[in-house]
Order: sequence, then C-alpha cells, then structure tokens
Amino acid sequence: MHVLVTGGAGYIGSHAVLLLLEAGHQVSVYDNLSNSSPESLRRVCAMAGASPELFIGDLLDSDRLKEVMLNVKPDAVIHFGGLKAVGESVEKPLAYYRNNVVGTVNLIEAMECADVRRLVFSSSATVYAESKKLPLMEDAPRDASNPYGRTKLHIEQMLEDLAVSSGEWSIGILRYFNPVGAHPSGNIGEDPQGIPNNLMPFISQVAVGRRNEVKIFGKDYPTYDGTGVRDYIHVVDLAQGHLDAIDFLTHHKGQFVWNLGTGSGTSVLDVIGAFSRACGRQLPYKIVERRAGDIAEYYGDPTAARLELGWKAERGIEEMACDMWKWQSQNPAGYGEFEIGDYTNEDLNAYIKGIKDTLSSTNVVS
Ligand code: WQD
Repeated sequence: MHVLVTGGAGYIGSHAVLLLLEAGHQVSVYDNLSNSSPESLRRVCAMAGASPELFIGDLLDSDRLKEVMLNVKPDAVIHFGGLKAVGESVEKPLAYYRNNVVGTVNLIEAMECADVRRLVFSSSATVYAESKKLPLMEDAPRDASNPYGRTKLHIEQMLEDLAVSSGEWSIGILRYFNPVGAHPSGNIGEDPQGIPNNLMPFISQVAVGRRNEVKIFGKDYPTYDGTGVRDYIHVVDLAQGHLDAIDFLTHHKGQFVWNLGTGSGTSVLDVIGAFSRACGRQLPYKIVERRAGDIAEYYGDPTAARLELGWKAERGIEEMACDMWKWQSQNPAGYGEFEIGDYTNEDLNAYIKGIKDTLSSTNVVS
C-alpha cells in the first residue's frame, strides 16, 4: 500500500514511517520541517533499507497539498502534521486553529481532489473532559481545556460530519494518551525544541546533564503517591497502532475512534524511578506547586483497539525509560540544528537516501 504521512519527519511520524517501510509499504512524507529534521528520515531509511519520498510542504499551502496528493495518489493518509504544545496554544490560539483545523480542512479537500478517502488522524486523550470514571472509554464525555485540545476536538467533530455526509470515507481517529520512549536502536526519538513541556523528555534531559533537576508539579493530588498519574505509551506501540488502523480501514467504511494507551497509570515519581534505573543514577527532583490546568490522573481503556484492531501495548514503563535513555545518551543534542534555508526537495531526498551527506555535521546512523 502507498501511504502519505503528514508530519512524517516528526517524533511519532518518523516511528510510523519506519514501521510502514519495514512492513513493505511505500511511503511519502509531507512535512514543512518547521519542528523536525530530515535527519530522522535519513536514519529511518538506513534502518529500513528503503526510503520514504519527502515532499516539503505546509498544510496551509492548499495548492502544494493538492499538487502532491494528485502526484502521489496514496491509498491512505496518516495525518500527524500539526502544532502540539499545550502551553504555546494558550499564548497563540489562532496559530493553533489555523494550522491544525484549517490545515486539516486543506488536507481533506486535497484528498477529495485525488479521490483518496482513507484517513488515520492523530488525536489525543486531551479531548476528554476531566472525569472520575477511569479508565476512560471512547464514549466518555469530551471537553478540551486548552486551545490545542480544542483543535483536536474540533477536527474529530469535523471528521464525524464528513463521514456522515459521504459514505465513501474510512476514517480512524486515534486518541493517544502520553507518548514517550524511542525506537530501541536509539537512532530515532523525541527531539523537542527549547525547554520540554512534557515530563519524560524533561527527565531525559536531566539524565543527560542538559537540565539540573526535575520539578514535580505537585505532590498533593488524590493519587497513589500524591503526584500526577498518566497512561504512558511507548512510541513504537503507538506507531504500530497506526498500521493496524490502516489495515482495518482497508475493509471498513465510516468513522471509528480508538484509545491508544496501556490501560494503566504511572505516577511522576515512578517515572523518575524508572528513568533513574535506566540511566544508572538517582535523578534529582524537587516538589513545586501544581501546574495550572493539570488534572490528578487519567488513563484509557484500550479494549476497543484490542477487539477491533487486534492491537495492544506490548511495552511497559521500564522499557519506555530504557529506550528513551538509549536515544538521549546516544544523541545528547537530538538530531542537531537544522534550518531548511534554500535546500530543495531534491537535496533533502538525496540526503535522506544517503546519496549526499553535505547538509550538516549531524551524526548519521552508526
Ligand atoms: C505528565 C505529568 C504533570 C512535566 C500532555 C498534553 C497531551 C499529550 C501528552 C499530545 C503531569 C507532570 C510534567 C514536568 C511534572 N500531548 N509533570 N514536571 O500534561 O499529561 O499531557 O502531553 O497529545 O495533549 O496535554 O503530559 O508530560 O506534560 O505531564 O511533574 O516538568 O507529569 O503535572 O502530572 P500531560 P506531561
């Protein structure tokens, strides 16, 4: 199958591209490289022994999107492309609505132009309303508490309306809980720009010496040890869920929603403990006040994905921490700096394929 992956050079996208290539699919990537590097795809290509075709483009450039969609005519699209920082979305809500919601409208219109109607959408557990009823089922009430989460909720509702308006669409909405970890090779992983907002990448940077200590946002929550509890899911398990969703959509029309989580929660203190074991030293931390907007705990019920997709998370928090540490210790500065500058699509595809390596001094796969 030929799959077009928006945001395929990013953290979760690059892991999905690797698994797609390893499963024998043909892959095209549409990415503006605003928050990712072609280095991730070069390493994916070196590991998979097959290369995705990169098309540099922005979801807000509807002409470019249509041109690529008509050129590629994929069998399916996986849509990772979007802005995803909760805190930034509060400061710049319009940028988030424009990029995430309008960008997705552009994507759907481009797909209609090319008669491509199989879509997997990267949604988030952040669309769920705060609830005491755990684990969260897919029919739990939705009510996002920040602009980022509201863009995901609006897109879900838009896709529901699209599926009702036309019986031709096959749409899979995947609600991620907390994606963490890295490919066990240590060659690809999460490479956040600036100070990480999320817990695991922050801990990882403390472990590698880029940050001094972990700040635990509150230890007075009504949870088993007083710190926040979340459903952390290994990024490789998460990526596999996308392949299983694509397979399901090959035989089903309509709109479907699946939680992708482990079904259990882990506290902040336990994540720090797991990472301390992974890196071989007790990581320093300090208890500080709660972070505005945080809730005590949430975790998902992945039964529907197991029954309908045959998917379940295989990796636990220890493996998440070990794999994240391997990536971080092998790549203390992530993929290194990358500015798209005046590189052409041809330059970057030659780099990804290993034909040229003049883009930067970034280490390539060992
Ligand atoms: C996890 C726990 C914090 C940082 C966010 C998005 C969500 C999804 C996943 C995309 C909480 C605590 C954190 C730190 C801490 N992303 N914490 N110190 O907030 O559950 O979810 O990322 O879909 O949409 O909202 O993840 O990693 O920020 O926090 O104590 O430095 O760690 O209070 O309990 P969160 P997180």
